[in-house]
Amino acid sequence: MINIPKGTKDVLPQESYKWQFIEKVARETARVFGAQEIRTPTFEHTEVFLRGVGETTDIVNKEMYTFLDKGDRSITLKPEGTAGIARAFVENGLVNSALPAKFFYITPCFRYERPQAGRLREFHQFGVEFLGSYSPDIDAETILLAKTFLEKAGVKNITLYINSIGCKTCRKEYENALKAYLNQNYEKLCPLCKDRLNKNPLRILDCKNDECKKITEGAPKILDYICDDCSNHLETVKKLLDAVGVEYKINPNIVRGLDYYTRTVFEFVSENIGAQGTVCGGGRYDGLIKELGGTDTPGIGFAVGIERILLLLENTGVKIENPNKVKIYFAPMGEAEAVKAFELVSTLRNSGIACDCDHMGRGIKAQFKYADKIGAEFVAVIGSNELAEGKVKIKKMADGSEQTVEFDQVKSFLEKA
Ligand code: HAM
Repeated sequence: MINIPKGTKDVLPQESYKWQFIEKVARETARVFGAQEIRTPTFEHTEVFLRGVGETTDIVNKEMYTFLDKGDRSITLKPEGTAGIARAFVENGLVNSALPAKFFYITPCFRYERPQAGRLREFHQFGVEFLGSYSPDIDAETILLAKTFLEKAGVKNITLYINSIGCKTCRKEYENALKAYLNQNYEKLCPLCKDRLNKNPLRILDCKNDECKKITEGAPKILDYICDDCSNHLETVKKLLDAVGVEYKINPNIVRGLDYYTRTVFEFVSENIGAQGTVCGGGRYDGLIKELGGTDTPGIGFAVGIERILLLLENTGVKIENPNKVKIYFAPMGEAEAVKAFELVSTLRNSGIACDCDHMGRGIKAQFKYADKIGAEFVAVIGSNELAEGKVKIKKMADGSEQTVEFDQVKSFLEKA
């Protein structure tokens, strides 16, 4: 037997309907917020992520699936959705389209991480990217979209953390202050954070190591350093969220793991799915389009991990109905009856009713067993008497009640049932 690669998952029919539900809620939420679907390739030139996500990030340094193709080009499977969309925005000249351009996507992503609950090597994101507006109301709208999606999907007890990591100018000042503070505690930092100190000191703020956590508790706080423009931006975002009743906590330790962020960053975090509690992450990235060679254009977006949402729903006992079950199963008792069953099934399917009949030559008892296993709501028995009279005996599986229905009345019976 050949096994599935580590960190990947088969989605079998007993689960795929849950994915369909999440995807439907995602599409519907995006639609009411005026976002259109964008699809970009599963792989890009590696350069897109080096410049987009950033060379000092864990994603680029350790987690990318990168390989040379047969033409000796360095190719990378997308570790996230934003950079590829930014590349597409630049390449297709979308700066000349109606702005803000509002996109959503559902995509597989690939990161070579150590698999654990809620962390896979192939996972799926639903995300949005809004490009073209500097206004704080697009930040609030993006956050509201994420919140609306999570609520409609059935997520409860989730905390929204918001922070501002400033702009290029004020962040520099903060990084210097942070570095000066962390240098005093250099020896106590974990090896990873020692390495981060000069490359990406902000990342030390969300290190999970206990000793690093203790050190960063006393570190200077970014919100004391951001400039007036960045501070006013954050205040307006907060005011707008208050106006629509979105609850949040300001958390100066939310810094995010990707280099492109500026100003607003946010995460929705759950206590119900273990160590990988961040279900949704996002923020503003005003320098990304320029970094990828485009006209300076601001942007903001988020992505939720679909596997993490499903895990969260399961762990909090939220049930999703399977809408794909067969409504009626026809159980013929002989050859002539099987022909009639085949004909009735075919007519009902043309009317959009999910139905099935025996394909195994089973006896009646085994057919009932099968119908029960596939979750059929009704079983219609056709024996020789029924065939002669032009009727079926329909049994409702939930309560065992029976009714005899004429062949040409089955459709209207089901519509009323
Ligand atoms: P991210 O925080 O790296 O942000 O990922 C977003 C979400 O993807 C996470 O909150 C998590 O739910 C899910 N996720 C990430 N890694 C894994 C994994 N290994 N296994 C399962 N789920 C995972 C981004 O990707 C940004 N592109 C979000 C964004 C869009 N920012 C602006 N626009």
